[in-house]
Amino acid sequence: MGMESRRSKFISLRCFIFLSLIATHCILFVKTQALGQVDECSALLQFKESFAISKSVSADPLAYPKVSFWTREGDRNRSNCCSWDGVECDEESGHVIGLDLRSSCLRGSINSSNGLFRLVHLQRLDLSDNHFNFSQIPSRFGHDLSSLTYLNLSNSLFSGQIPSEISKLSKLSTLDMSFNYQKVDDSIPLKLTKANMRSLVQNLTAIKQLHLNWVEMYSTVPDILVNASSLTSLQLGGCQLNGEFPVGIFHLPNLEVLSVYSNSNLTGYFPNFNRSNALKNLNVGATNFSGMLPASMGNLQSLNFLDISNCHFYPLVPSSLGNLTQLNYLDMTSFNDVPNNNSTGQLVSEYSLSWIASLTNIYDLPWVHQIQGKIPKFCG
Ligand SMILES: *[C@@H]1O[C@H](CO)[C@@H](O)[C@H](O)[C@H]1NC(C)=O
Ligand SMILES: *[C@@H]1O[C@H](CO)[C@@H](O)[C@H](O)[C@H]1NC(C)=O
Ligand SMILES: *[C@@H]1O[C@H](CO)[C@@H](O)[C@H](O)[C@H]1NC(C)=O
Ligand SMILES: *[C@@H]1O[C@H](CO)[C@@H](O)[C@H](O)[C@H]1NC(C)=O
Ligand SMILES: *[C@@H]1O[C@H](CO)[C@@H](O)[C@H](O)[C@H]1NC(C)=O
Ligand SMILES: *[C@@H]1O[C@H](CO)[C@@H](O)[C@H](O)[C@H]1NC(C)=O
Ligand SMILES: *[C@@H]1O[C@H](CO)[C@@H](O)[C@H](O)[C@H]1NC(C)=O
Ligand SMILES: *[C@@H]1O[C@H](CO)[C@@H](O)[C@H](O)[C@H]1NC(C)=O
Ligand SMILES: *[C@@H]1O[C@H](CO)[C@@H](O)[C@H](O)[C@H]1NC(C)=O
Ligand SMILES: *[C@@H]1O[C@H](CO)[C@@H](O)[C@H](O)[C@H]1NC(C)=O
Ligand SMILES: *[C@@H]1O[C@H](CO)[C@@H](O)[C@H](O)[C@H]1NC(C)=O
Ligand SMILES: *[C@@H]1O[C@H](CO)[C@@H](O)[C@H](O)[C@H]1NC(C)=O
Repeated sequence: MGMESRRSKFISLRCFIFLSLIATHCILFVKTQALGQVDECSALLQFKESFAISKSVSADPLAYPKVSFWTREGDRNRSNCCSWDGVECDEESGHVIGLDLRSSCLRGSINSSNGLFRLVHLQRLDLSDNHFNFSQIPSRFGHDLSSLTYLNLSNSLFSGQIPSEISKLSKLSTLDMSFNYQKVDDSIPLKLTKANMRSLVQNLTAIKQLHLNWVEMYSTVPDILVNASSLTSLQLGGCQLNGEFPVGIFHLPNLEVLSVYSNSNLTGYFPNFNRSNALKNLNVGATNFSGMLPASMGNLQSLNFLDISNCHFYPLVPSSLGNLTQLNYLDMTSFNDVPNNNSTGQLVSEYSLSWIASLTNIYDLPWVHQIQGKIPKFCG
């Protein structure tokens, strides 16, 4: 009897110790979690305080200053920033994992002390269409935000060298740093060295969308891009590229968008395309692309945007282009201006645009009027 009761006392003592251990752990866990979140909320407030709000700096007509509504007034929890406009938290951990401040009228500089870099669990970050006052992109993006899968810093007036640390963001599937240059006349471009471009492509093995329009490179296109097999969209317009475009890029299995327009020193030619090619949008306008348009272009069944204007293609157009029934945009401005070929003007009467009649989705061809009497020859 006594033995029984002593044993049950012993058991309940053990239970008690066990349960209190669990409870302590739970309390500690909840506490650390809440503390982590409180710190992230104050990081967000610090981020907010480093900028002025200026309606005119965002181009989107629907722009509004999301951060103006971020406040702790009357919030005794001091940790409910998950409900703030543009802030996304993980349901289980409570950490801030998404920040969407696209077109949010933010104006000011970002430096490496910014609260942003305390949001170490961020997976999606969109700061596009704001005015970051020609700040350099701090290397802490690469050091501290290593969970990022989506990073959009386009159209936001960053400038200077893109830090090599960006290539540490090995989970990125989208990187957009386009159009930081064109927004205002006196802006300073973003720049990327060839070595950094190479390590970017080498390290970002999950990259699908790589958009670096108007990032100044003054280099050749690294041939390692032919190995970026996850790429669906590659945009390198206006990057001051030169040399020969690696033709293997056209054969990337998932590539739907290829845009290298406005690189007048970029030389290249079109390969033979087969029917498994996924290209939807092809823009080589205002480059030094040349050679024949291959008849196999008719295999680009998904193509809906084609800009081959202001290049140096040989002015004979394969009639198979009439098979591109998905096309709804076609620009062939200056298609006939082949330099050093004197026969251009003389062949005019043989030219025909009959294949264009089969492209029923195209509703406007302003360039056709421009090149009247200098229309590409129908050769098939
Ligand atoms: C960084 O920016 C903050 C404002 O966001 C400013 O108070 C601070 O002085 C800046 N630090 C440096 C080193 O420029
Ligand atoms: C505290 O947080 C909880 C859960 O996020 C919320 O339901 C509650 O309204 C908050 N209380 C105050 C005073 O903000
Ligand atoms: C923009 O940067 C300049 C220096 O580069 C600084 O003097 C100015 O205060 C900054 N403006 C804002 C709004 O941060
Ligand atoms: C980045 O943001 C801009 C809007 O500011 C948007 O137009 C663009 O599509 C975004 N890029 C990507 C790759 O999502
Ligand atoms: C590539 O990413 C790894 C981490 O994933 C990093 O340790 C390495 O420094 C990166 N390399 C470059 C060249 O940035
Ligand atoms: C692409 O990858 C293959 C196999 O991994 C490798 O042999 C080749 O050198 C790579 N190409 C470039 C340009 O790095
Ligand atoms: C093209 O190359 C020439 C000669 O190397 C150079 O002078 C010119 O600035 C380049 N133009 C562009 C737009 O890169
Ligand atoms: C089509 O081209 C791709 C590369 O772009 C290649 O992998 C595939 O084998 C080709 N298919 C045929 C039927 O030739
Ligand atoms: C344009 O391409 C042609 C041959 O395709 C080449 O001879 C010429 O040097 C290129 N021009 C420039 C500016 O790259
Ligand atoms: C268009 O495609 C069909 C098969 O889909 C083919 O028979 C025809 O020859 C093609 N037309 C041209 C002009 O290439
Ligand atoms: C000029 O064009 C004609 C056909 O229109 C072609 O036979 C000739 O080879 C071209 N010459 C050069 C230098 O491209
Ligand atoms: C171009 O053609 C005209 C006559 O049609 C001729 O006078 C001129 O010499 C030719 N120029 C060249 C470079 O062949």
